[in-house]
Amino acid sequence: MITTLLDGNRRFVKEIFDVERDYFEDLAKMQRPTVLWIGCSDSRVPVNTITQTKPGEVFVHRNVANIVATNDWNLSAVLEFSINHLKIPDIVVCGHYGCGGIAALDEDCRDDRYIPIWLNNAYKAKERVDEKIAGLRIKLSEEQRMQLIVEENVRLQLEHLREYPFVRNAMEEKKLSIHGWVYDMTTGDIKVVQRDTVACVEF
Ligand code: CO
Repeated sequence: MITTLLDGNRRFVKEIFDVERDYFEDLAKMQRPTVLWIGCSDSRVPVNTITQTKPGEVFVHRNVANIVATNDWNLSAVLEFSINHLKIPDIVVCGHYGCGGIAALDEDCRDDRYIPIWLNNAYKAKERVDEKIAGLRIKLSEEQRMQLIVEENVRLQLEHLREYPFVRNAMEEKKLSIHGWVYDMTTGDIKVVQRDTVACVEF
């Protein structure tokens, strides 16, 4: 497998890098991405492929279940750099149906040490959906329920994003919009779950 990656890189240099050498030489001097993508680490959700974007266009942070945790210094530094230095105007939190991290909210991960701690940041999404289903007295398949939790998790992580004062300030100054999306890996489609929340309030 590892040699496949290096073979792929040699093909990339020959078929893409050398062909678009001017583009990559400019890029080597400076990056100007216009979107910060916060997505799941899942190998089936590769941002540049599913959005048909090129190197240099999307700044990326990925973790298990596309979580925004305000005590996560890794993401916090990514956010700070994106907003204060790169001046990125749009942040996308993108979940995906069939997310193993979200499915694990129902599982007893007793043998794992870190996964349950990490998933605590998404637990409220499951609680909200289960409460709603119970309140409405409707019968949903397990797959439908999971899809709702995936969508609710995206909304929850957008809420976490707004807990950062510098994110809120940038939004209030109309310098930043945040968006909630879900990728469907059975069709390739991206569903917009939540549009820029500040704009929504105004309309
Ligand atoms: Co996932």
